[in-house]
Amino acid sequence: MTEHPKIIAVCGKGGVGKTSISALLTILLAGEKSRKVLAIDADPAVGLSLPLGIAVHKTLDQIRNDLIRSIENGEKSGKEELLNRLDYELFSSLSEKDNLAFLAIGRPEGDGCYCQVNSLLREIIQNIAARFDFVVIDGEAGIEQINRRVMEMVTHLFLVTDSSIKGQNVAAVIENVARKKIQFQKAGIFYNRMQDEEEVHQLLQRNKLPVIGWMPENPEIRKYDREGKSFFSFPDSIVMTSLKQAVQGFIYE
Ligand SMILES: Nc1ncnc2c1ncn2[C@@H]1O[C@H](COP(=O)(O)OP(=O)(O)O)[C@@H](O)[C@H]1O
Ligand SMILES: [Mg+2]
Repeated sequence: MTEHPKIIAVCGKGGVGKTSISALLTILLAGEKSRKVLAIDADPAVGLSLPLGIAVHKTLDQIRNDLIRSIENGEKSGKEELLNRLDYELFSSLSEKDNLAFLAIGRPEGDGCYCQVNSLLREIIQNIAARFDFVVIDGEAGIEQINRRVMEMVTHLFLVTDSSIKGQNVAAVIENVARKKIQFQKAGIFYNRMQDEEEVHQLLQRNKLPVIGWMPENPEIRKYDREGKSFFSFPDSIVMTSLKQAVQGFIYE
């Protein structure tokens, strides 16, 4: 445990590979058993638990709703109680993966607003991040969570893009909004699904952000996703090598 956890937010346009990369990063970081790692699925579409092979008992939104119900039923509980309860729920879902904790924010029930669960998420990150060495956040697509300062505590902004102009634009906008709204330490771009080095070379020429690294289009990732397999058994391949390099150069340094 450390007083200065590294909080890595994996952000970018929808579909660029945030969830796959978040899962593999989490697995790499948690590979060292002496470290405590928290993975947060901050995408209401819920997806990170599958590649991590974790069963979600309750999402943050469900915990919140249960709590609201018990308050409505006359139970007196304040923020302290809420945090204690969250603590319990959070840590009771750790069991299977010793040094890896997991939290999913979930989808608000009915017409519920995302802002409440998002602001709760911000508080949770503030309150519990210090108990971990690394926190990996699989962000919602786009800029909303940066804009709302849900990512306030983030130290490392891991911007994922594919080769599309749209993907690159979203990454640039996120970096720009983040610079105004949050105080991160490092931001960089990671190119996913690259065809070959020539494509990377072309992209680098018009890129203005620091580059974390790149990873090729890889049929194994698609296969794992298609079959809903845990990425813990992902083979040591060029995918893992490129992510290890990214961890080494961007996160550890
Ligand atoms: N490097 C890659 N090679 C091949 N398929 C990939 C790669 N990265 C992601 N994918 C596939 O792209 C789809 C979207 O990836 P995902 O990680 O869910 O993106 P996001 O979380 O950004 O929406 C998934 O089907 C996934 O298997
Ligand atoms: Mg996703």
